Amino acid sequence: MHWRPNNCGRAPSEPWRKRRQAEAVLAAELLPTGTATATSVVFYFVVFLLFLAPPSYAQTKDSCLDCHSALPDPLGVSREKFGHDIHKQTGLTCSSCHGGDPTNDDPDKAMSRQAGWKGKIDRKQVPALCGRCHSDPSFMRQFNPTLRTDQLSQYETSVHGKRLANGDTKVAICTDCHSVHDLRVPSDPASTVSPLNVANTCARCHADPNHMSGYKIPTNQFAEYNKSVHFQALVVRGDMSAPTCPTCHGNHAATPPGVASVTNVCSTCHVFQAQLFDSSPHKEPFASAGLPGCVTCHGNHGIVHPTDAFIGTGSEAVCIQCHTEGDIGYTIAAKIKQQLVQLETAIGGAEQILDSAERSGMEVSDAKLDLAQAKDALIKARVTIHGFNLNRVQADIKPGLESAAKDYDAGQKALAERNYRRIGLGVSLVAIALVLVGLRMYIKQIEG
Ligand code: HEC
Ligand code: HEC
Ligand code: HEC
Ligand code: HEC
Ligand code: HEC
Ligand code: HEC
Ligand code: HEC
Ligand code: HEC
Ligand code: HEC
Repeated sequence: MHWRPNNCGRAPSEPWRKRRQAEAVLAAELLPTGTATATSVVFYFVVFLLFLAPPSYAQTKDSCLDCHSALPDPLGVSREKFGHDIHKQTGLTCSSCHGGDPTNDDPDKAMSRQAGWKGKIDRKQVPALCGRCHSDPSFMRQFNPTLRTDQLSQYETSVHGKRLANGDTKVAICTDCHSVHDLRVPSDPASTVSPLNVANTCARCHADPNHMSGYKIPTNQFAEYNKSVHFQALVVRGDMSAPTCPTCHGNHAATPPGVASVTNVCSTCHVFQAQLFDSSPHKEPFASAGLPGCVTCHGNHGIVHPTDAFIGTGSEAVCIQCHTEGDIGYTIAAKIKQQLVQLETAIGGAEQILDSAERSGMEVSDAKLDLAQAKDALIKARVTIHGFNLNRVQADIKPGLESAAKDYDAGQKALAERNYRRIGLGVSLVAIALVLVGLRMYIKQIEG
């Protein structure tokens, strides 16, 4: 087959597909029967005719794969490896990308420039090579109408693409992320860009100080990410809604989210925090100081689970990075913290008393169920803090405190009830004992 630039190597029509299947079946039926009977002579004649047939009939022949599958690395491409490639599975061949004449066993003819063979593919040419098909909607639609066709144009806007255009070949090109010759669909867990593998793919360059020397950016993104809540959620707990590198950076437009877009990246998932932040007294001053919203307090790659120590005026509090004693932010930070602590303490107290009532056999399941409401209020308040507004936080805390107080009371009542019952039981035991003693004395008297 010849390289035809405008239809990317071949016309993938249904009749063509069927004919190839038919050829394969025919070949499989014919070739293994080696007995020299009259019929087999006829069969071999048919096979002979097949070879004389027009070039399209000989398309099953792939001299490129035949020869290269036997070559050592880096020239070797094993059948097994290429068998995993989506392009092979779609019916494309070596020459769809490399050009050349796969019907010819003579390497000089197969790999001749006249037959469209491209020779060694330079790194700088790779995006255009892939884009030849992947940026052609009418071609791609025949295979997969839902597939996007903007990868190359997106790539060209990325730091990778811009630097490549300026001659920097150390940046990522299509094959660095997707691999080549065993290129799998992203949904295949073994794909180099599947959600669980892609961070390792980025890390091959971004965590390699040698590769990244000469650039001014750090090489700690992967190490930091591996310590984060997002890594924990995605890789450890298998929560596919948690982000990995390209979730935040984009698949093809890999740029660092700038100041304006950082809040947007986080807000695609953390909607409530983002809404509250937008209405908070931080929105305006952060924007005018050029501070990225969420990332200013939480960081970007190594985001950890924040606790109540993160807020307030203690040594671990993020607020004291900017607020100092005496300013309003400082005072409010302390008050918000105090609200959270108050509710947490109240819940702790109620839980303890209900537990001890339960252990001594009292029925407190209603109160325990009710305590869940106080816990929800605390969870809600920890989100609401993103408005950095004391009244709003108080509005969550107050009903929580009321619930917790009610449940504490219920616990106390249950314990009082238990004590009352214990005293009652004690009194009746003494009474019974007295009766028994009296009875025994009476019996003795009668006997005596
Ligand atoms: C009979 C064996 C044979 C056949 C058939 C063959 N090749 Fe090659 N190919 C080689 C060898 C050997 C080399 C290394 C040649 C060299 O370095 O000069 C090579 C080199 C290459 C290279 C690498 C060029 C480079 O410098 O990195 C590509 C790409 C390639 N072949 C593709 C193809 C394609 C596509 C076909 C089919 C159209 C094909 N080959 C057919 C043996 C073959
Ligand atoms: C989807 C397109 C595509 C297909 C199909 C494809 N290749 Fe390649 N191949 C490439 C690209 C792109 C490169 C350059 C990779 C790079 O620089 O990262 C390459 C590189 C090569 C090289 C050079 C390796 C080296 O390190 O010098 C050889 C040899 C080769 N291909 C042979 C083949 C053979 C044989 C087949 C069929 C079994 C094949 N290719 C199928 C795209 C393709
Ligand atoms: C000759 C045309 C052609 C060339 C050149 C080509 N591709 Fe493809 N590619 C296809 C077709 C056709 C499919 C199958 C689409 C499908 O069925 O989903 C495909 C599938 C893919 C997929 C899987 C898409 C999905 O999710 O289904 C990726 C990723 C991909 N190609 C990347 C590349 C890269 C990277 C290169 C360059 C090294 C490249 N392709 C070169 C035609 C081509
Ligand atoms: C920096 C890494 C990186 C580079 C460079 C890259 N890709 Fe991708 N590509 C990805 C990731 C990540 C995905 C999405 C994986 C997923 O869907 O989970 C993807 C998905 C795809 C898909 C599937 C459809 C889609 O858009 O989701 C195609 C096709 C594709 N890439 C082609 C290309 C082509 C062509 C190039 C070069 C112009 C390229 N890619 C460069 C990382 C990269
Ligand atoms: C082949 C190596 C390589 C791979 C793989 C790679 N990158 Fe890069 N990347 C680079 C180089 C080199 C730069 C240029 C550094 C610079 O801009 O200073 C870069 C730049 C970037 C930048 C811009 C940094 C800045 O502030 O200028 C981002 C963001 C980025 N890469 C993200 C990714 C992500 C996400 C992946 C994986 C999906 C990835 N890269 C895969 C080599 C790579
Ligand atoms: C939760 C979102 C998120 C995830 C996940 C993420 N990044 Fe980032 N990344 C950011 C933000 C935000 C910035 C900083 C942008 C700013 O400060 O303007 C950034 C900056 C970068 C930069 C520029 C240099 C630097 O360190 O500031 C590179 C390179 C980069 N990330 C690569 C990666 C790689 C590789 C991964 C995966 C291991 C990754 N990122 C995962 C959000 C993320
Ligand atoms: C693709 C969705 C997504 C994006 C984008 C995202 N996150 Fe997350 N985030 C999650 C998931 C899922 C969790 C895990 C929730 C859990 O632990 O139950 C999480 C957890 C967190 C936590 C810890 C919550 C806790 O209770 O421990 C913080 C803080 C956080 N993310 C901040 C951010 C910031 C800041 C950004 C932007 C730089 C961001 N996230 C981007 C989905 C996302
Ligand atoms: C001024 C600092 C600050 C900014 C800006 C900030 N946060 Fe927070 N965030 C905190 C503090 C403090 C906590 C801990 C609350 C607690 O547990 O008491 C927290 C907790 C969280 C949590 C986990 C607790 C929960 O359930 O809500 C997530 C998720 C989160 N923030 C996401 C975000 C997102 C998304 C943004 C941007 C829209 C953002 N944060 C902006 C300080 C900040
Ligand atoms: C990166 C710096 C920075 C951090 C961190 C920060 N703030 Fe602020 N905050 C500001 C700026 C700037 C203002 C604008 C008013 C000012 O200058 O005090 C402000 C204003 C406020 C206000 C409104 C004050 C008023 O005048 O009405 C409150 C409340 C507040 N911050 C609470 C907090 C809390 C609580 C935290 C910790 C979770 C925190 N801030 C962390 C910079 C910050």
